Amino acid sequence: MNVEKLPSESSLSLKEEILRLKKEKGAVILAHYYQTGDIQDIADHIGDSLALAQIAEKIEAPVIVMCGVHFMGETVKILCPEKTVLVPDMEAGCSLADSCEVGAFSKFIEEHPGHTVISYVNTTAAVKALTDVVVTSGNAKEIVETFPADEKIIFGPDRNLGNYINSITGRNMVLWDGACHVHEKFSLEKIMQLKEENPEAKLLVHPECKKPLQLIADKIGSTAVLLKYAQDSDCDEFIVATESGILHEMHRRCPDKKFIPAPPSDSTCGCNDCSYMKLNTMQKLRDCLATGKPEIHVDAGLIDKARRPIERMLELSTKIKK
Ligand code: 13P
Ligand code: SF4
Repeated sequence: MNVEKLPSESSLSLKEEILRLKKEKGAVILAHYYQTGDIQDIADHIGDSLALAQIAEKIEAPVIVMCGVHFMGETVKILCPEKTVLVPDMEAGCSLADSCEVGAFSKFIEEHPGHTVISYVNTTAAVKALTDVVVTSGNAKEIVETFPADEKIIFGPDRNLGNYINSITGRNMVLWDGACHVHEKFSLEKIMQLKEENPEAKLLVHPECKKPLQLIADKIGSTAVLLKYAQDSDCDEFIVATESGILHEMHRRCPDKKFIPAPPSDSTCGCNDCSYMKLNTMQKLRDCLATGKPEIHVDAGLIDKARRPIERMLELSTKIKK
């Protein structure tokens, strides 16, 4: 990739510059719903973790910019090893992926011989390589249910999603004790108060949230499931307990409905942002298109091992949909 002139030297607006560079480099921009609104607006495709993996697999362009966190970039690279995969900020990590260190997870698997290993997509490539099938919050229930009821299963790393799937499927999967710091910090007290103040509002909750919050939810689901629920519902008001970036697409799809962000316990601000997701900015998106950096690299041997469980998820998702 050629190094382009950087912003201050350019008379073009940031948005125009991104669009020009995208065309020039033959790049496709993917963005998760937790990105800022301006990034979601300029992306070629927006989606939840599942949709982005499904889209990435079909992209023909030589360069893919994954506006999301590191594990999402890795997933794209594993599915498209011959392509250049860029993430605007390489520091965009994930507390949930970090809660599952590969050495410790490998030991956990050894301690549970004969178990099928199901891992949430929010994991490193190294953890995926130890996995039989990957899931996202959008397909975890259906994929778990493709296994016989007496299948011995390890589910990692999110304990809240794992407990939720156990409760709705009647399974007794062995759970890794990991969590997302963003989804765990919603304040039950403040949300109860919001419910009192907005009695008509439906409470939408991501399954990475803690059980007490799940128990008072009107709908539990992945970001895409929550979006669809809000769109299809007769109700006009919603309290949204997932990362606040999702409100952008909710407002775009349902301009006449009211979306109230559920507040975290540790701040006076009403929104709950993932600081990792929000490391990506329009400036960094422009710079990564201009410089071709930072680029995601995954060891070829690791790609071979991590690819199969992701492809298995994509195959199963297609079958489940039919
Ligand atoms: P989904 O995109 O599957 O809803 O997951 C949310 C998340 O935490 C992504 O980091
Ligand atoms: Fe990870 Fe949670 Fe941020 Fe998603 S919201 S990227 S799970 S830290």
